[in-house]
Amino acid sequence: MDMSTSRRLFLQSVGLGSLGVLATDGLVGTAAAQTPGEKILGAQGVKTSARPKGVWQPVSDRKIRVGIVGNGVCKFGPSFGFQDHPNVSVVAVSDLFPDRCAEMSVKCRCSKTYPSLEELVKDDNIEAVFVATDAPSHARHCIDVLKHGKHVASAVPAVWGSIEDGHRLYEAVKASGKKYMMFETSAFHEDCYAMRQIYHAGGFGKLLYSEGEYLHHSASQIPSYKNWRLGCPPQWYPTHSNAYYVCVTNGGFLETTCLSMPSLMKNLHPENNAYRNPFGSEIALMRTSEGGMSRMAVCWDLPGTGGEVGRVYGQRGCMIGMRYQGEEGHLPNLGRPPLPPTVQPGHHGGSAGPLMNEFVTAILEDRRPMVDIRLALNMTVAGIMSHRSALKNGETLKIPQFA
Ligand SMILES: NC(=O)c1ccc[n+]([C@@H]2O[C@H](COP(=O)([O-])OP(=O)(O)OC[C@H]3O[C@@H](n4cnc5c(N)ncnc54)[C@H](O)[C@@H]3O)[C@@H](O)[C@H]2O)c1
Repeated sequence: MDMSTSRRLFLQSVGLGSLGVLATDGLVGTAAAQTPGEKILGAQGVKTSARPKGVWQPVSDRKIRVGIVGNGVCKFGPSFGFQDHPNVSVVAVSDLFPDRCAEMSVKCRCSKTYPSLEELVKDDNIEAVFVATDAPSHARHCIDVLKHGKHVASAVPAVWGSIEDGHRLYEAVKASGKKYMMFETSAFHEDCYAMRQIYHAGGFGKLLYSEGEYLHHSASQIPSYKNWRLGCPPQWYPTHSNAYYVCVTNGGFLETTCLSMPSLMKNLHPENNAYRNPFGSEIALMRTSEGGMSRMAVCWDLPGTGGEVGRVYGQRGCMIGMRYQGEEGHLPNLGRPPLPPTVQPGHHGGSAGPLMNEFVTAILEDRRPMVDIRLALNMTVAGIMSHRSALKNGETLKIPQFA
């Protein structure tokens, strides 16, 4: 189909009615009739944990010596499958709680344990560390790892409510010359990854508008180390939603206007949490680095089923779930990279295995990992500024840039 025909079909198919159908369909994942110019690229709007297609090709026969820290409530340290990757030897594990440490030692098939990250990083045998500790410790722990001359992968978010920590972490990564990657799970959702491929092949043009939601109702509060989750500001945990712009485009956010309203939930009354945070849902409207708009929501007190989802609308096409609608006739390969046969796709829509594999492969190939320090801070710091904006009743605030 030539460009003028496909453009005509596209323009025919994006009347208000069809966009309405797409918008609701993208969220609930039910089937709707296909319209011209539209391509259904996978299970419509439903995240799949299916194994990526294709045969994994090793890029090296080297084994990276990895340390893993943190086996908290989410049992995160062992859950990304480092221990199953042919190019990894897990040589040490650590958690402050001996029972958690012992459990991780079994799961990671690694007998060497340390009582803390601070002890583990002194081990010269270790080349890379996965920091799966509590969110408030990520910046300090990652800086410690980098200062000991090791690569580091961090659970989200990159920093906890502090712009100064963002600068400190950024400088530490630059000074170390080592790899830093944030394990943002949305980045390897089937749809978000496909959006990224289409974006970089020009199938969206610039993104006029993007939107993401992290909806996690916390009626039954998830426990956490020293209660860091209790009443925390929603937009301090912004990466799952912000990924639906930043991980698609490699861009960032320039300024934010964020609104909220006082929460009915007890934990979210300012006198009941360490953050003095009154908000349970924060909705940010941001100016993007392309000059477009993003609406990013993080909600703890919104009843519903929850989700870590997003949609993108560009000047040449849009995508909702795994449904592309636009002018581009020839889409690139959209599949997530193949995994070693021993590695499982894992949790969060099959994103765990691919994130770990990306970090390992970036070290082996000595290249930038997909979610590097710049992207990690673009996502995280935008949220910190959004919370500040919400506290000022939506005052527009500039977002610090990490170039
Ligand atoms: N989708 C996602 O990406 C996703 C989902 C869940 C959790 N997370 C992130 O994963 C991380 C872990 O979550 P969690 O709920 O298990 O956290 P948690 O608070 O329950 O546990 C943190 C663990 O880190 C350990 N720890 C802290 N300091 C340490 C140190 N100095 N040395 C060794 N161990 C130390 C603690 O002992 C504890 O077991 C968090 O940062 C969270 O934000 C991300």
